[in-house]
Order: sequence, then structure tokens, then C-alpha cells
Amino acid sequence: MPGHNEGMTPANPPPIPISRAHQKIIVALDFPAWPAAAAWLAARREAPLWVKVGLELFIAAGPAAITALKQRGHKIFLDLKIHDIPNTAAGAARAAAAWGVDLITVHAGGGPAMLAAAAQARGAGLRVVGVTVLTSLDQTQMAALDWPGSIQERVVKWARLCQQAGLDGVVASAHEAAALRAALGREFLIVTPGIRPQGTAAQDQARAVTPAEALRAGADYLVMGRPLTQAADPDAAWHELNIDLAQR
Ligand code: C5P
Repeated sequence: MPGHNEGMTPANPPPIPISRAHQKIIVALDFPAWPAAAAWLAARREAPLWVKVGLELFIAAGPAAITALKQRGHKIFLDLKIHDIPNTAAGAARAAAAWGVDLITVHAGGGPAMLAAAAQARGAGLRVVGVTVLTSLDQTQMAALDWPGSIQERVVKWARLCQQAGLDGVVASAHEAAALRAALGREFLIVTPGIRPQGTAAQDQARAVTPAEALRAGADYLVMGRPLTQAADPDAAWHELNIDLAQR
């Protein structure tokens, strides 16, 4: 009977175990240029991660960054927060699908027609999630925008619009994750930024929560940027994150 290690020669090593962080964390590559992002990823010497390319890196490096990440086997969340007329939003979704991107964002504030247009244009491999209320907004900034109601009411209302339009999920703070799960069911993706491990600086995230809290609240994916990419010791930050997630 063949042993289970059969075929595992040095040229064919066993797969690297996928850590909990690999399954749940999307690393926000908010770097000013591709070489800095590539250097951070190269130093991680692990299985390919979920990564997020946002406005900063995409405007700096363009689709070449997407191609390079695909070649390295990463799953790609292209977070350009599309907010435009339906025809343009649909074209953007099609273009992202053609690059082999896995997940994109559209602004829920773009309205039902724009959300539906993006959802219909996405094709088989791409998932589209709606951005509800930015995690940097607090009640004071909501008032300055003249937005009535609580943050949670607005998040749930806009998430419902996203679901009705055929989107795959939403981006929202973990503070709203439990209410979103209850309102929208198990299948609707919840992607939560604004994540800060215990003892790290909140920076401009007004409503930060810890990774374990976010998962407990029902988040599917956690977006984390600066606590990982700007950590004094990135390896230690990644290791501690895995311990935190394993203990949840
Ligand atoms: O560095 P930090 O962990 O705060 O990065 C969070 C990332 O998540 C940033 O790239 C930011 O653009 C994104 N994001 C967010 N709040 C949202 C949607 C996306 O912070 N509502």
C-alpha cells in the first residue's frame, strides 16, 4: 500500500499548511509603488495570500501590479470603490474580470441601478461587494454629511440594497457584522476592514475591532493593512495574528 508521503521528494515538497490567517485575512497592500508591495510579500515566504490592491497602489502601479500578483498566485481584491453611472460601473466590472481579479468593490451609495449593472456584468470568476459606510466615518462625520439615522441603520439598509441588486456581499465594520448576518443570511459575504489587533494603534479607523471579535461577529474576511504592512516586525505581527485567530 503506498505511504502517504509517496512522491514527496525535495523537488516535490509537501504543501505549506494554510494558516488561519491565510484563509481569513486580506492584506491591504497600501504601498506607494509596486517594489515596496513586492518586497513585503517576498519577505512572507509562505503560501499565496489574499491581497487587496486599493487606490494608492493601483494608481501608482496600474494593472501591472495585478498581473504580477496573479503570477505569484495571490487572490486579488481590487478595491477601487466604483461609484459611477451604471454603464461605466458595468464596464469597470467587466474589465476587472478580464484581469482575473477575484473581488471588487462598488459604492452602495451609487444606487440600485448601478449596483445591479455591476452585478450583471461580473461574469463567473469575479465577486462584487458593496461598500456601505466607510469604517473611518463616525457619528459626527455622519452628521456633517447630513446623513440621518445611526451608522448601523444605514449599513443594514444599504446592504439590503446590495443584496437585492444581486451583489455577493458587503464591506462593513465588524460592529455591524452581527446585524448584517441576521438581516441578510449566511451566504452573503461580509468583508470587514477597520481591524486592529489588541495593543496596536487605531490610526484613522474610528471604529476598530480585533480580528477575533470580527470573526465572532460573523465576518467572512478581515481586511488588514498597516498593522501588518507597517509593523516594526512584520513576521512577529503575522505570527501573533495567527495565534489570535486560532484562539477565537
Ligand atoms: O491600514 P488599514 O488596516 O486601516 O487598512 C484598511 C483598508 O481597508 C484600507 O485599504 C482602506 O481603504 C480599506 N477600507 C476601509 N473601510 C472601508 C472600506 C475599505 O478601511 N469601509
